[in-house]
Amino acid sequence: MLILSKTAGVFSKPARRKTYEFLRIFNFHSGKPFLHKLVLGIETSCDDTAAAVVDETGNVLGEAIHSQTEVHLKTGGIVPSVAQQLHRENIQRIVQEALSSSKVCPSELSAVATTIKPGLALSLGVGLSFSLHLVDQLKKPFIPIHHMEAHALTIRLLNKVDFPFLVLLISGGHCLLALVRGVSDFLLLGKSLDIAPGDMLDKVARRLSLIKHPECSTMSGGKAIEHLAKQGNKLHFDIKPPMQRAKNCDFSFSGLQHVVDRIITQKEKEEGIQKGEILASAAHIAAAVQHATACHIAKRTHRAILFCKQRRLLSPSNAVLVVSGGVASNLYIRKALEIVTNATECTLLCPPPRLCTDNGIMIAWNGIERLRAGVGVLHNTEGIRYEPKCPLGVDVSEEVGEAAIKVPRLKMDI
Ligand code: KG4
Ligand code: ZN
Repeated sequence: MLILSKTAGVFSKPARRKTYEFLRIFNFHSGKPFLHKLVLGIETSCDDTAAAVVDETGNVLGEAIHSQTEVHLKTGGIVPSVAQQLHRENIQRIVQEALSSSKVCPSELSAVATTIKPGLALSLGVGLSFSLHLVDQLKKPFIPIHHMEAHALTIRLLNKVDFPFLVLLISGGHCLLALVRGVSDFLLLGKSLDIAPGDMLDKVARRLSLIKHPECSTMSGGKAIEHLAKQGNKLHFDIKPPMQRAKNCDFSFSGLQHVVDRIITQKEKEEGIQKGEILASAAHIAAAVQHATACHIAKRTHRAILFCKQRRLLSPSNAVLVVSGGVASNLYIRKALEIVTNATECTLLCPPPRLCTDNGIMIAWNGIERLRAGVGVLHNTEGIRYEPKCPLGVDVSEEVGEAAIKVPRLKMDI
């Protein structure tokens, strides 16, 4: 009470609205005032235009998203210039919607955080130039965000997860295993040497023409594979997980895609159907490719856990594995990972699906994390550029390979 009246005293002169604004951004907690940080996050690295306002306690005050998935499904993949145009058409509205629904006045923001790396150049450019104009107008600090760092830290908005923890990011554009030691302190343990698992599943789904399947026509490729796999028998085709001999934590999915491609061509001949028609064996193929994908991801993750434990990089009693990205919403893959975390006595955490896929909340939250840690908060944006390619953290994948850890065989009874 004393603090309230003192504060009111200090702000007795300015207009009432100003005082009200001031009071709104202060929290009176256990008698001590603390500045409530508010960050606007903006994401345009790929095919989602997203924005959100998040406070430092993890409250999502407002959010908005425009997904381009439907447009890109029709063209059979993302056309960068189309993505750019759609970001341009939607960014102003999306940011406005996030701000209006948050009831936060732009002047109350502590900073604007925006994805500037990695991603599609044309898409990143739209978010960056919009944000630079915005911070210039509002005279607010700017926090450039690494998209993968944001995915990795999202879990801390929801759960109390201390550093260090292990993160597996699997989506249409990403595939990596990293140890998160701090807000911007990552050890990269492994990554895909070619395409990401979501990209592979999308290609398989396209090759199977699942968009014409009545049950899957509106689903992303990965979701369609998961859906159809439930009706199939994974043992019908013998598809081996890739890289079984390589004792590292890297991934590869393009070989798997080609194997499946050959199976589909063969089956089309056998079933006497044309490319573009739905195979009778489509569900068996979906089940087999999903199983091989799950086993591959599980094995690399298992090795990463063993490596971290061996080097005492993770707490022996409280090791946490966080799994995120669009592919993390696949329940079959999650079950495979559960088998691994049960065997290694780790805790498995996954953000809910809407926070696993690209969104503005994770960018705003990454801004909060950076503000709190005091890292990468810019008051001068001169020379800021987007970076389509940008590795995450320090790459120790060679060291992981040299350790050549043999992973005990686990029964993948999923
Ligand atoms: O994280 P995200 O929205 O975007 C990026 O790629 O960054 O992930 C989209 C990817 C797509 O490849 C999609 O096919 C895949 O995630 N995906 C799934 C599932 N839902 C989405 N893959 C497997 N199983 C799912 N249930
Ligand atoms: Zn992403």
